[in-house]
Amino acid sequence: MHRYVWLLALAASFSASIHAVRAETPEERGAYLVETVAACGNCHTPRGPDGAPLTGKALAGGVVIELPAFTAIGANITPDIETGIGGWSDAEIATAIREGKRPDGTLIGPPMPFNFYRHISDRDMHAIVAYLRTVPAVANEVPASEYRIPLPDAYGPPATPVPEVPRDDKVAYGAYLAGPVGHCLECHTPRVGGHPDLENRPGAGGMELPAPGGGIVVAPNITPHSDKGIGSWSDAEIKTAITRGVRPDGTELAPVMAFAWYANMSEEDLDAIVAYLRTLKPVSH
Ligand code: HEC
Ligand code: HEC
Repeated sequence: MHRYVWLLALAASFSASIHAVRAETPEERGAYLVETVAACGNCHTPRGPDGAPLTGKALAGGVVIELPAFTAIGANITPDIETGIGGWSDAEIATAIREGKRPDGTLIGPPMPFNFYRHISDRDMHAIVAYLRTVPAVANEVPASEYRIPLPDAYGPPATPVPEVPRDDKVAYGAYLAGPVGHCLECHTPRVGGHPDLENRPGAGGMELPAPGGGIVVAPNITPHSDKGIGSWSDAEIKTAITRGVRPDGTELAPVMAFAWYANMSEEDLDAIVAYLRTLKPVSH
């Protein structure tokens, strides 16, 4: 049976390469985004003692993110009716992700990156929801997060229709992946008044994050500054850091950087992200 399915898949990929590119289904697009550049599992999939995501618990929640401002616990976003989001409509799930509002009207707290997710295109949002419906339902009751800071009343007006960003515009598409979808710039931009200073210093680094195993790790400067940033790294070196968590000098990055997920990004998407990072203003801090 498995062999049969595999052969079918092989046949499909052959015919795809012969008859130009086959259109992706929403589920395939959603699977790609969630499992690679969006790396939802970095906050929603529990890890074992070795740091590897637990098999059979994908997106089942319970990841604790501890900072002075909060003890946030990644929610169960599998389709389990009782403990996950299986009872929510497609529109309700999209509203939760883009606007930070649950069906019961309560607000979802940080560090869900709503200021980025609200700019995910309508089509990609639809794809992400379609994929979340297909992941195995896991019964896992997750305790409530605790916020020691006041949460806003809302994260802004409802997300208006968001058009597609053309994939053949490499830099614009790279900006879309590094911003709305991958929220690279959430972690890699210094904060002013609690918000990333995207206007003046996008990519300049400085955000402090809890390191797995304790302590704090600081997100580095990823602007093209030759000394303080990654301006002197080759494209291949930048891609190795993103996908394998290894710097040009051989040192390893803490898995706060979701390289286990980024490892499966397509070459074109990595190229687009690198092309975009090269266009950032080189700043020293
Ligand atoms: C940086 C960490 C982080 C990332 C990345 C992240 N989330 Fe979350 N998410 C959270 C936390 C923490 C909560 C719970 C917050 C709370 O308790 O108020 C949450 C809550 C949610 C909820 C509400 C569930 C509920 O029952 O309240 C949904 C839906 C959700 N996330 C979907 C996603 C999807 C889809 C992605 C990827 C596109 C994603 N999240 C990426 C941290 C994250
Ligand atoms: C959850 C926060 C977070 C997100 C999201 C994130 N990063 Fe990182 N990134 C970090 C941290 C923290 C480090 C440093 C880890 C260390 O020092 O061990 C890092 C390191 C890096 C480095 C190595 C830079 C250096 O000088 O060491 C690059 C390049 C990088 N990230 C690019 C990206 C890109 C591109 C994305 C989006 C696809 C991204 N990051 C998403 C937190 C994040």
